[in-house]
Amino acid sequence: MAMNLTIKNVKERQFPCNALILPVVEGELDYYSKISPETHSFLKKISTEEFSGKHNEVLLIHSPKDIKPQRLLFIGLGKKTDISPEKLRQAGGKAAAYLAERGIKKTGLSTSLIESLKLSSSDFIEGSLLSLYKFRKYLKKEKQYGIDILTLLAKPSQLLKEKLIWAKTAVDAVNFARDLINTPSNDMTPTHLAKTALSLRKKNLSVKVLGRIEAEKLGMGAYLSVSKGSHQPPKFILLEYRGKKSSSKIKPLVLIGKSITFDSGGISLKPSENMEKMKDDMSGGAAVLGIFKAVSEAELPIHIVGILPATENLPGGSATKPGDIVKALDGKTIEIINTDAEGRLVLADAITYAKHFNPSAIIDIATLTGACTITFGNEAIAMMGNNRELLDKIKKSSERTYERAWEMPLFDEYKDYLKSDIADIKNTGGRSGSLITAAYFLYEFAQDTPWVHLDIASTAWIDKEKPYLAKGASGIGVRLILDFIAKELKTFS
Ligand code: BES
Ligand code: MN
Ligand code: ZN
Repeated sequence: MAMNLTIKNVKERQFPCNALILPVVEGELDYYSKISPETHSFLKKISTEEFSGKHNEVLLIHSPKDIKPQRLLFIGLGKKTDISPEKLRQAGGKAAAYLAERGIKKTGLSTSLIESLKLSSSDFIEGSLLSLYKFRKYLKKEKQYGIDILTLLAKPSQLLKEKLIWAKTAVDAVNFARDLINTPSNDMTPTHLAKTALSLRKKNLSVKVLGRIEAEKLGMGAYLSVSKGSHQPPKFILLEYRGKKSSSKIKPLVLIGKSITFDSGGISLKPSENMEKMKDDMSGGAAVLGIFKAVSEAELPIHIVGILPATENLPGGSATKPGDIVKALDGKTIEIINTDAEGRLVLADAITYAKHFNPSAIIDIATLTGACTITFGNEAIAMMGNNRELLDKIKKSSERTYERAWEMPLFDEYKDYLKSDIADIKNTGGRSGSLITAAYFLYEFAQDTPWVHLDIASTAWIDKEKPYLAKGASGIGVRLILDFIAKELKTFS
């Protein structure tokens, strides 16, 4: 059941609920003494050891008798000068999960403290909504989990309302992407991904799916070479959204999402340890679908195109073999050194195809390299590109959303790493510098079209739970790119 999220202009002591969430600045618990006389004496009994308001610290108590909420949940925001939107998101995540795990259904949030800090309670709520996600599609028993009602105690303002709706739309898109990624590859086939894209169709959102024969006719030899070892038919999925006010002349933003529904490595087979995680190799594609869902729901006045080159990478009898040479859509020949470097092959043809749309910019998002995780652990997206302005804007969005992106260089010298003796380019440059040479390969296809590559191999899958993200698919990229789009409305409308 979806959670009911509303705003109500009512005092804390007069709001009947199972639990009222009270955010606390470290050392300032007495902020809530004003709620009622009995609350005042109750709070005096709480020692600093019991609760002081450290970031993400929680204390749940049964309420004094002179107020209507049954329980009070104190959640620490940390030191006043350190509080940020991300700290709020984390605290919101922690508080909501704490209540949901205890079966507490009807809740409220006191917003006066957050607003007095010149921050927005919508960030707190964003964290709450993200933390309540659970993937339970494959469980026999559908146990009830979650909060039924979350009411913000606040003066209803248009701004707060809009921010809440946007947070909800963005989180729904993230969770939509997480569901697709968590779904195992026996169900999440290229065909199923295409069906999911088709389900997003609307008056101003069209979806077209190219099959193997059409892709062959166009000459997508790089993309198709990846699909040869699988019985699942490849699907080259195209989405185009034109918001109401966007003029027909405007150059679109093209979003490309790597969509390998399972990456076994192909003939260059991966080791079996952790191979089950390779169902997440369509995380980029899932993020793009999430973004289209949110943008179309919010009816943003922009023009965007989405491309998902979907296929499995399996080692069947007709699979591409190391040493094979294939011809990409732009005419370049590629010597396949390692069939496990398949992401760049499908992305190469997608980037060339994107140029048909005369894009203002291309952003690709992909679980591209193992080296990305070696470099960043679970903490940052690797970002590379050919356009300073675009890179800087994405960096800003990454700071706002805390989907942190860190830039790596595309030095000219990396070009040599990809030189083949017998073809125009080879698909791997060896182990050294492999995070960057993978991106450099894409750069050879993007050339001078403004382009940014986001390697999310490090962050698409969470091994250890984070304050508002459960283990499994993170849906990373959705909030980042939505923030970028929202800030850049004018450029693409
Ligand atoms: N999908 C993988 C990258 C990956 C690895 C993502 C581990 C998440 C966790 C990609 O297709 C791949 O296999 N890359 C190879 C490239 C290499 C053969 C040059 C890699 O990074 O090992
Ligand atoms: Mn691979
Ligand atoms: Zn892959």
